[in-house]
Amino acid sequence: MIKKLATFLTALLVLNTANIAKEGMWLPLLLKSLNESDMQTMGLKLTAEDIYNVNNSSLKDAIISFGGFCTGEIISNKGLILTNHHCGYGQIQYHSSVENDYLTDGYWAKDFSEELPNAGLTATFIVRMEEVTDQVMDSVGVELTDEERDRQIKKNIKRIGEEATEGTNYEAVIKPFFYGNQYFMYVTKTYKDVRLVGAPPSSIGKFGGDEDNWMWPRHTGDFSMFRIYAGADNEPAEYSEENVPYKAPRALKVSTKGVAKGDFTMVYGFPGRTQQYLTSYAVNQIKNIENPAMIDIRRTILNIMDRNMRQSDEVRIKYSAKYARVSNYWKKWIGENRGLDRLDAIEVKMEKEKAFQIAAMKSDNEAYELALPELKKLYEQLEDLALARDYFIEIAYRGLDIVSIARTFRADITDLSAGKEFDQAHIDGLRNRVKRFYKDYDKNLDKELFTKLMHKYGTEAPKKFMPDVVKKINGKYKGHYPAFTDMVYGKTIFDNKEEVLELLENYNKGAAKKLLKDPAYQVSENLWSNYLNNISPEYNRINDDIDKWSKIYVKGMQELLPGTYYPDANSTLRLAYGQVDTYEPRDAVKYDYFTTATGILEKYDPANKDFVLPADMIELINNKDFGGYAENDELHVCFISSNHTTGGNSGSPVLNANGELIGLNFDRNWEGTMSDIMYDPDKCRNIAVDARYILWVVDKYAGATRLIDEMELVK
Ligand code: ARG
Ligand code: ASP
Repeated sequence: MIKKLATFLTALLVLNTANIAKEGMWLPLLLKSLNESDMQTMGLKLTAEDIYNVNNSSLKDAIISFGGFCTGEIISNKGLILTNHHCGYGQIQYHSSVENDYLTDGYWAKDFSEELPNAGLTATFIVRMEEVTDQVMDSVGVELTDEERDRQIKKNIKRIGEEATEGTNYEAVIKPFFYGNQYFMYVTKTYKDVRLVGAPPSSIGKFGGDEDNWMWPRHTGDFSMFRIYAGADNEPAEYSEENVPYKAPRALKVSTKGVAKGDFTMVYGFPGRTQQYLTSYAVNQIKNIENPAMIDIRRTILNIMDRNMRQSDEVRIKYSAKYARVSNYWKKWIGENRGLDRLDAIEVKMEKEKAFQIAAMKSDNEAYELALPELKKLYEQLEDLALARDYFIEIAYRGLDIVSIARTFRADITDLSAGKEFDQAHIDGLRNRVKRFYKDYDKNLDKELFTKLMHKYGTEAPKKFMPDVVKKINGKYKGHYPAFTDMVYGKTIFDNKEEVLELLENYNKGAAKKLLKDPAYQVSENLWSNYLNNISPEYNRINDDIDKWSKIYVKGMQELLPGTYYPDANSTLRLAYGQVDTYEPRDAVKYDYFTTATGILEKYDPANKDFVLPADMIELINNKDFGGYAENDELHVCFISSNHTTGGNSGSPVLNANGELIGLNFDRNWEGTMSDIMYDPDKCRNIAVDARYILWVVDKYAGATRLIDEMELVK
């Protein structure tokens, strides 16, 4: 073990000098000082100003946050957006019906008039960013209590944001970096009329389904297209028929030149969350306590869904999106744990902590000396709370549909009991929510989930934070969970759409009484109040302390242990860079860096819903009808590179040394999913759809040539 560790550490040191540039999600504002020369050595032909510039046009002007959960990029001067199929999935599904099934068949607007509006969907540009640490810390003296400091910081943030956006249609986001050692402001401009332009059929956009998810080699055409619409002045406007396609001052050029191993790449986008600076105590808690529990809960859910989905097509359709959602992070956590294991992540962290502690003692800085022992104590206090919270979130909050739908009514109960009458708009809103909920609900499946998950909760969650309802099952029902389920589902209205809609017919005092007596409502209320009263306040308090000490720890590391540090992802615009690269997932196995259409046909399986293909597509591939998009007579489909990415980077452009779009980021490889906690340059790869495959699908398969004509292709 020790020997293995020593070898690994030496390897890490050596690799660090050769490969350091591949790790990290960098601030566009700081590229000049931190990364430019490194990037140019690796092959970048641009300057930092070409990537990020406030006064002149730069690549950043073509990057958007897509709806706040994904990234997108502008690929024509008419405001055309490229993002992932899985990012636009909700919108594609929303516009789909049995007659017009765009999920199954794809959708291609023939002209502007056929581009479909999406209420609530936004596209956000970054106007500029700046460091505002001093302003945020203004009047935040050491004499203040923690609470007073927080209050002053919030006040400052509000003021700085207001001043920065006064008299404009901009917004400002100010976020802590390095646990609050620094603050940066992003001034943004958000367009609110974003329309669906095109999407391939799911058999292309989701090819490989959950089986291939997080996997390389991959053959998924995970892309869709939208367009920004603006008012007559080209500024953001609420949806209106009068709105016109946004005249984009900057659009990415799309390269059809393809990629080769070793080519310089960058990914520009909005990574959501990483935790590179966790201590060994934290990684231990995630890897050995939280992940195993959550993986186990989700496996239970997936098994029940899968069995029911196999038995009925109706159930399969209803639960396919839910299954994909649960499965995504279930699989990610499994990969993450394996990766942390392989890296000896906890031991590596411990070694680092040892070095830090020695340096801290030498530095004679008391706060630095105390940071790690304090963090250790705090994680010990946190353990049961964190686990109890996981059980609540995975089971009560996300797992049990009947608990969520019952919870929907909670906010109204006080008013209803007091005799208040709600207006029609409120009731219609609820009615729509109810209808949408039951469209994807199956009573038998839900009942089965309820029994299994309540049983898990009651027998596995930390005893100290057990909700009363579980104690009741263990007492009154003598631990007979199915009997409790029968009682709940025998009496509740929430397993039946008609009964819930009926409640809305007479939405008054009587309805409140009925709700309060409903056993599913009671279960929901009990699980939630247990969480809100017994778990989250203490959990949050300890986490505030953890953040406080982490701020000191990270500051100490930067000061005492030399190295280049990049801040954890926090949903702000970042640039990652690396190169197109192969990897070796395990002993004796080598993975190439690209896949081809031949591989699509190899995976094709008409009996497996995730591997079916449109007949006309098979024909095109068999005829090698690849237009001008092939390389050596092969159509390249996906490729991998060593850019450090995470959730939220989906839809980000992969750019070449000239800043041209060569691919569309959508996933990572399974062996690399621990990169949110510890990056391994040997194993971590981001997965992109090759730009030429996207063009081929749009042009040759869908015949949507008007979209190709809009783009600027670089051949
Ligand atoms: N793993 C990718 C990401 O984290 C894609 C998820 C969507 N695909 C799926 N089969 N669930 O978002
Ligand atoms: N699939 C992720 C996303 O949707 C990307 C990743 O986690 O690598 O953002």
